[in-house]
Amino acid sequence: LSHQEHFLSIFDMYVLSLKLCVCLCTGCSTAVNNLVYIVDGSWSVGFFDFDTAKQWLINITSQFDISSHYTQVSVIQYSNTPRLEFPLGKHQDGAELIQAIRTINYLGGNTQTGRAIKFAVDHVFSSSQRANQVKNRIAVVVTDGKSQDDVDASMEARAQGITVFAVGVGSEITAAELVSIANKPSSTYVLYAKDYTTIDRIRDSMEQRLCEESVCPTRIPVASRDEKGFELMLGMNVHTKAKKIPGSLMSETAYALTASTDITEKTREIFPEGLPLSYVFVATVRLKGSSSKMTFDLWRVLSMDKKIQAAVTLSGKDKSVIFTTTSIKGKEQRVALYDGKWHQLKLLVRPHQITSFLDDQRLSEAPLELMEPIYINGKTQLAKRQGTDITVPVEIQKLRLYCDPHQSERETACEIYSVVRRSLCCSLHCTRSGSGLHSPSAL
Ligand SMILES: *[C@@H]1O[C@H](CO)[C@@H](O)[C@H](O)[C@H]1NC(C)=O
Repeated sequence: LSHQEHFLSIFDMYVLSLKLCVCLCTGCSTAVNNLVYIVDGSWSVGFFDFDTAKQWLINITSQFDISSHYTQVSVIQYSNTPRLEFPLGKHQDGAELIQAIRTINYLGGNTQTGRAIKFAVDHVFSSSQRANQVKNRIAVVVTDGKSQDDVDASMEARAQGITVFAVGVGSEITAAELVSIANKPSSTYVLYAKDYTTIDRIRDSMEQRLCEESVCPTRIPVASRDEKGFELMLGMNVHTKAKKIPGSLMSETAYALTASTDITEKTREIFPEGLPLSYVFVATVRLKGSSSKMTFDLWRVLSMDKKIQAAVTLSGKDKSVIFTTTSIKGKEQRVALYDGKWHQLKLLVRPHQITSFLDDQRLSEAPLELMEPIYINGKTQLAKRQGTDITVPVEIQKLRLYCDPHQSERETACEIYSVVRRSLCCSLHCTRSGSGLHSPSAL
């Protein structure tokens, strides 16, 4: 048998069913943001399109809970000079804020974008009553044309830790200018719409990125990029509590949890703003001995009264993987996970569906139900038997939650030897040190 055939035969022999019981949780609504919209009100926009721009701002704001505790919004309209429509904290509920945006009067004039950004930095972010408490400070610059002044002020904004998004509308915009206004990478922080009539099309991606920015403060170094997300091996203190063991490849390290290892942390410390709107859950695990016959939650988020807020459950009995959140929609799928080897399980959670992968092979998709924020007042745990605090011995090499759903395409299972052998992808895509073609240490 070649390695490839060997892998396939194991895959066939150990088919399990993967049931996905899903609903989505989000933490965006309860994120704590100071959000400032800097909107072009120059003559080139026109009365009609200015109304559309206002409606778009209302739309992208709707995912946030507007209140003194959570998100506060300010709007600056600008042409030759910036005009503060209302400061941060002026409107303490969503309905009032929407009304305030709706009644903004169109200014007209030239386009001095740099000046408006400077105004936001010097006068708007800094005058928030929550300036010292709020770490998420986000500016969204919406413009339809080239600025008549320079936009260096955005460098100062970024230097102060303000995240700047640039939204260019229409054909008059200059890509280079938007790139210099926005944070890096511009693939994340610059958005384009063909014109105001089609700006609705970038609503989803704007919402997703704003959500990500609000909920995912940390970055995980992956290859040469920094990805937003949660490194749960570190966050959950697996590296200090569990025994270090060789991983799937010589270059990889893993950790063995025993019955006496307790991996439990306060959810507030792991996901201080809840879970993002979309995310990719990646777990590389090996199940041996009796643990492959048990049903346990590989990862679970519990509320204070121990209700599951989110969980990935491995069921040894009916050989299935179950993803659960606050409501249920099930679907049968088949996965090989119980052959005593290392495997990478990846779940791509998006607003309307979940897709599962095992060792880079796409298994299936299931629809998702409506979103609800999770309670962060309880505990987040690893490898616990369902409904108990008993730890199931399991070996874990990787446990991450990426906030960018596109990370799903980039996160290849190259650390799995059979995947390395069966595809070229790994030698091409895995630039991380040594995860390419090392011999297996644990097969
Ligand atoms: C705002 O949302 C409504 C409802 O989803 C949609 O019909 C409308 O086209 C959106 N408008 C803009 C400008 O995004």
